[in-house]
Amino acid sequence: MWSSSWIFVLAAAGSAVGLGNIWKFPYITGENGGGAFVLLYLGCVTLVGIPIMMAEVLIGREGRYSPINTVRALIQQHKSSSMWVIIGWMGMLAGFLILSYYAVIAGWALHYIVQLANGSFDGATAEFANDAFDSFLADPWRMVFWQTVFMVATIFIVARGVTKGLETAIRWFMPMLLILLVVLLGYGVTSGGFEQGFDFMFSFHWESVTAESVLIAMGQAFFTLSLGMGAIMAYGAYMPSNASITKTVVTIAVLDTVVAIAAGLAIFPIVFANGLEPSQGPGLMFVTIPLAFGQMPLGALFGVVFFTLVSFAAITSAISLTEPALAYLVEEYNAKRWRVAVSVGVICWVLGIGTVLSFNLWSETYVVGELTFCGFIDYVSQNIMLPLGGVLIALFAAYGLPNTVVGSQLGLREGPFALLWKVVIGFIAPVAVLIVLIAPIFDVVLEFLGLG
Ligand code: PFF
Repeated sequence: MWSSSWIFVLAAAGSAVGLGNIWKFPYITGENGGGAFVLLYLGCVTLVGIPIMMAEVLIGREGRYSPINTVRALIQQHKSSSMWVIIGWMGMLAGFLILSYYAVIAGWALHYIVQLANGSFDGATAEFANDAFDSFLADPWRMVFWQTVFMVATIFIVARGVTKGLETAIRWFMPMLLILLVVLLGYGVTSGGFEQGFDFMFSFHWESVTAESVLIAMGQAFFTLSLGMGAIMAYGAYMPSNASITKTVVTIAVLDTVVAIAAGLAIFPIVFANGLEPSQGPGLMFVTIPLAFGQMPLGALFGVVFFTLVSFAAITSAISLTEPALAYLVEEYNAKRWRVAVSVGVICWVLGIGTVLSFNLWSETYVVGELTFCGFIDYVSQNIMLPLGGVLIALFAAYGLPNTVVGSQLGLREGPFALLWKVVIGFIAPVAVLIVLIAPIFDVVLEFLGLG
């Protein structure tokens, strides 16, 4: 059990704030045309993300086991359909897939700590920053090295049990990360690209919105809030009974969104001031930020601190990616925590090699369409498994559990709020996600029929 509800907020925020905010949000915003995408993303967080996070926490706190066993126990207790267990199994699988590539990208951040410390970026030009990133990606050995370092660190922390380290990490690093984002923002304001960057993020060009980009915005909302795979459910299981679920969930969602928007506002001015491409993809953060630090007084120092903080943010998220599987295996087989942690780590590490190769030797090998191995794992886990898991979690909270149980977890008795909750979680949120999940399929069919 967390020692206070405050620690639950810290742990869940540690899970939520990670590469998804600082690396992924800016780059997919860049690839999907900016403003309209940001608005879609904010809509998804508010309308779908917050209610589903509440559902995850309340299910976890009601069951008090690992996600798989929590759902099992609640099914038995309330005689609901055994089909709901799929929530736990799919979540565990999604956790493995996401962690496999998450560790690779976090490894990039570790590599950049060393590069900035070396002074490699002092006075660098945009061309230099681009080339530095490309030559790093072309070298699978260096990527595997840093992926391994990150994975070993994660497994080490997870194996020792998380609460203590996690608490210190988040209490200190999160505010520092925000401060450094503000420093970068200050740099952006004076870089000459701020107006354009701001405009890019907040003016709406609806013509760039497609069914696919709505799906990506929804997937991002799930990914950034760590929803749909049981991570927050696993943390909810350790939450004290007297803490308010609504308040804590809203706090976490707001914090997570603030970090993402701040990262975007820091990165896009640098993009425009240096004539870079906003749609350049996964390299966006790794090209723009070192470039900015290279031009700042004391930039190398700030840069080292920044990438260290990003790595910590990534580690507190990675920990939560392992928690559903870990808690389950320890519970079910009475296995030693460190043994399970090492096994999970090894599986994800091996899968991660596929991601490393997707950027060099396999960069022209496509699994489906234009998706490389990494692209495929990322797409399936983020855009399909997490939203689908979210729908099931919402429906389970709405129809798999008695109203009285949910009401007492949320502190809602009969009345308009209880009704509102039921409508949102039992209808609006799942239907919205399902429409978004199905729409791109219609797009493909229409295109196939020559009508799109
Ligand atoms: N929310 C994390 C991020 O934004 O980087 C990623 C993540 C962590 C996704 C845990 C899912 C999860 F269960």
